[in-house]
Amino acid sequence: MPEPLAGPSHPLFSRAWAFVMRRLEPQQLREGREQLVAGLAGTVVEVGAGSGSMFPHYPREVARVIAVEPEPYLREQAIAAAADAAVAIEVVDGMADALPLGDGEADAVVVSLVLCSVPDQAAALAEARRVLRPGGELRYYEHVAEPRGTRARRYQELVDRSGLWARAGGGCRVARETGDAIRAAGFVVEREDEVMFGPRGTPVRRHLAGAAVRP
Ligand SMILES: C[S@@+](CC[C@H](N)C(=O)[O-])C[C@H]1O[C@@H](n2cnc3c(N)ncnc32)[C@H](O)[C@@H]1O
Repeated sequence: MPEPLAGPSHPLFSRAWAFVMRRLEPQQLREGREQLVAGLAGTVVEVGAGSGSMFPHYPREVARVIAVEPEPYLREQAIAAAADAAVAIEVVDGMADALPLGDGEADAVVVSLVLCSVPDQAAALAEARRVLRPGGELRYYEHVAEPRGTRARRYQELVDRSGLWARAGGGCRVARETGDAIRAAGFVVEREDEVMFGPRGTPVRRHLAGAAVRP
């Protein structure tokens, strides 16, 4: 018997997230999801698939999606969502830093609102790079740190230091420089748009939506 994965369990956050995505998902986020996966084809790995909100957006050219989700309740929801999807989606247990694929097996890796929560961004990005074929794409939609020196950034740092947001939000950190981390992991960013999204006063308004290539 394989050892069970020591993944995160966030009973309250996972239920709240699934509810909001099912009933209250903002139109802007739905459109962001559509653009995030537009043009993809072949084998796609979605890391931290949550309740499966990306699934309706995958284009028909995608032959299969391996949707990795470590949180048990969200994984259950994702399995149900996969049954209704137009493309073949296999939902599996796993962690961003230990993906269940061989080297170079994937044509694309998709992350949406996940790199804020992984314990080690560099390890997660190195693993995404490992499973991508040369020329394969990392597609990302992530909330990120505000520019250094701004009031908004100081607010984010305060929020992270307090630990309360992370505790309530499934480990989410708000002041991560995810765009820089993607470049530092050796990806070549081909497109990156800054998107302001979410209610004023929240520390998670600045997002990056991008595509980066594994050389
Ligand atoms: C805010 S939710 C986003 C879910 C989904 N990607 C979406 O866009 O709706 C964050 C997700 O990241 C997952 N996650 C957190 N840590 C992870 C890790 N180390 N490896 C893989 N997924 C992780 C959580 O279980 C959760 O599904």
